[in-house]
Amino acid sequence: MRSSMQWALTALAAGVPLCAAQTYTDCNPLNKTCPADTGLDQWSFSTDFTAGSSAFSKWTTTSGTVNSTSLGAKFEVKEEGDAPTIQTDFYIFFGRVEAKFRCANGTGIISTLVMESDDLDEIDWEQISTFDTYVQTDYFGKGNTTSYDRYTNVDVTDPVETYHTYTIDWTSERIEWILDGTVVRTLEYADAVDGTNFPQTPMVVKLGIWAGGDPSNSAGTIEWAGGETDYTAGPFIMYLESVNITNYNPACSYTYSDKTGEYTSITTSNSTCNATSSSSTSSKSTTASGSAVAASSGAVYTGGATSLSYGSALFMVGGGLLAALL
Ligand SMILES: *[C@@H]1O[C@H](CO)[C@@H](O)[C@H](O)[C@H]1NC(C)=O
Ligand SMILES: *[C@@H]1O[C@H](CO)[C@@H](O)[C@H](O)[C@H]1NC(C)=O
Ligand SMILES: *[C@@H]1O[C@H](CO)[C@@H](O)[C@H](O)[C@H]1NC(C)=O
Ligand SMILES: *[C@@H]1O[C@H](CO)[C@@H](O)[C@H](O)[C@H]1NC(C)=O
Ligand SMILES: *[C@@H]1O[C@H](CO)[C@@H](O)[C@H](O)[C@H]1NC(C)=O
Ligand SMILES: *[C@@H]1O[C@H](CO)[C@@H](O)[C@H](O)[C@H]1NC(C)=O
Ligand SMILES: *[C@@H]1O[C@H](CO)[C@@H](O)[C@H](O)[C@H]1NC(C)=O
Repeated sequence: MRSSMQWALTALAAGVPLCAAQTYTDCNPLNKTCPADTGLDQWSFSTDFTAGSSAFSKWTTTSGTVNSTSLGAKFEVKEEGDAPTIQTDFYIFFGRVEAKFRCANGTGIISTLVMESDDLDEIDWEQISTFDTYVQTDYFGKGNTTSYDRYTNVDVTDPVETYHTYTIDWTSERIEWILDGTVVRTLEYADAVDGTNFPQTPMVVKLGIWAGGDPSNSAGTIEWAGGETDYTAGPFIMYLESVNITNYNPACSYTYSDKTGEYTSITTSNSTCNATSSSSTSSKSTTASGSAVAASSGAVYTGGATSLSYGSALFMVGGGLLAALL
């Protein structure tokens, strides 16, 4: 959370529209009644990021520029403030996310695969370029950052030079972190403070890189990142080859029916996505609900997911947690 919070802030500073974020600043479903989340209404979804610009059809670039190349989607940090990030236009509610990528080089550059919900449940893979023999796993429930003892370090060989497949398999009973097909960590529901800290609400998938070692970051973040980033040694690049997602509860929308943040409180619905059939523009979409509107060619998604996520981050900052986090 230390990391992804700073990541979100870096990305915001780099130009995520503040007006969008502010719209959602106060919508944490633990405290408010929030618009439904747009769900992925299919069991599986795959992206080959070498395929050209069509690869991004259900992804939003929330910060910087990310393009398809023959090596995969290219995420590049060239100067202070760069934090290229993409995010799914949809949420999944329990599922499996597999991402094959080559991490960025340099000192203090963080390559990440993060899943995050509106009430700040979070599941992470994070590779710190400075330490090229391991990758970190981490998780948070309901934005609880009272301790940073939830992470583990997992051995990995040449994460910068070599593509590895980083997988999260997430059910209501346990989370598995899987590296190149081998389970390297299992978190049982009961082991996360009897489930209280267990990630269990619909999540978006985010991938990107950012400079944990940026000289303007706090001393704690720079230390975690293994030192200050020297931008003259860049550019620092991550290549993302492919992502395969399985949604264990495919549906058009997910709604928090109460403020517990428990998975049993999430209701799923299919009534929204193929309900209308008139227009192929997004003019009928309601950004406020972040929901999908139908088009004859398929669903058109609004940017609701993006805004909500960054909005949550902002809200936490507003709540005074920033000092504790950075
Ligand atoms: C929700 O509201 C309570 C008080 O009503 C407050 O203590 C808490 O920080 C809020 N939580 C979030 C995540 O906004
Ligand atoms: C690269 O991606 C940006 C959006 O991130 C897009 O505007 C631009 O057209 C793309 N460039 C190429 C060459 O595809
Ligand atoms: C996703 O699935 C495709 C097709 O089966 C496969 O070629 C690719 O390696 C998979 N990617 C990941 C990250 O598992
Ligand atoms: C936050 O997590 C800690 C364990 O890391 C736990 O002791 C505490 O009870 C949790 N707080 C809440 C409000 O769930
Ligand atoms: C990463 O950077 C170090 C130091 O500049 C360099 O020695 C190494 O060759 C680089 N590795 C890659 C894969 O670019
Ligand atoms: C929603 O539709 C999808 C795709 O047809 C289906 O797999 C899923 O079971 C449905 N979910 C609900 C809650 O009806
Ligand atoms: C909506 O329509 C698409 C395209 O026909 C289909 O793949 C999807 O399963 C439908 N969703 C539901 C919930 O019926």
